[in-house]
Amino acid sequence: MINVTQLGYAGVNVVELDALEHVLGKVCGAEVRRDDNRLYARVDERHHRMAFYAADRMSLAYMGLEVESLDALRAAEDELRRKGLEVTRATAAEREERAVLDMIHLKGPDDIRIELYFGALVEKQPFKPGRAISGFVTGDLGLGHVVLASSDREAATRFYTEHFSFRLSDYIFWDEAEATFLHCNPRHHTLALMNPCFGMVPGQFNHLMLQVGSLDDVGRAYDMVHQMKIPMVMTLGRHTNDQMTSFYIRTESGFAIEYGYGGVEVDDRDWDVKVFNAPGLWGHTLAA
Ligand SMILES: [Fe+2]
Repeated sequence: MINVTQLGYAGVNVVELDALEHVLGKVCGAEVRRDDNRLYARVDERHHRMAFYAADRMSLAYMGLEVESLDALRAAEDELRRKGLEVTRATAAEREERAVLDMIHLKGPDDIRIELYFGALVEKQPFKPGRAISGFVTGDLGLGHVVLASSDREAATRFYTEHFSFRLSDYIFWDEAEATFLHCNPRHHTLALMNPCFGMVPGQFNHLMLQVGSLDDVGRAYDMVHQMKIPMVMTLGRHTNDQMTSFYIRTESGFAIEYGYGGVEVDDRDWDVKVFNAPGLWGHTLAA
């Protein structure tokens, strides 16, 4: 069992960068750095936590899962190889691009690229948000959460909970949707796996959640989205399971950014796994 401490970073292939740069910087408040084919987004002291690459189609390029030391990374590599999984060591160029000390990668369910790493680079310069916000909730909780469609949700859940230290948070079943929520630290979920419902295809990247430190950060972004006529997937609402108050921005590449405040934290010593029959307590209606 490999102890994963957080989702440290994520990479996404996107078909559009200009509007994304605006949304991440001016609406969400990330610090964005752009070159021709790549957008880095910084949300805390680290060099970056998100990278977006110009591509022909949208997909999750990789998830960066953190382990606690270089020794732990070596042990993880040995363990995965012993289990017969194919593991590749990062090249020097990949380590530099991700801004980590070392990294290995493997293919997870639905060919999702999982990167295990240690040693995320911390920037000398302070984080400079793209607009005035209280800040992002990251630190030991990691970047946020990722939601994926799985061809076999139960097999994918076994993969993440048997090879890695992901633990069950809860389930939501509604309409045609089945969702399993997994945590690896107190953040309610770092990874959620859904059946390929609502027109999603297996392996499809549905959304990335960014959590901010104040409800006002969310409210001001919500105002901006209305003023700027930025499309939404779901309106403001509150989730049943993680109790996050959030809304979902629709990016032009097709994935969503959930922008939220106030998610509950899991204490593994005293956690009840529940089954919910709806994702929302209120709001979160599908936007036209
Ligand atoms: Fe979410």
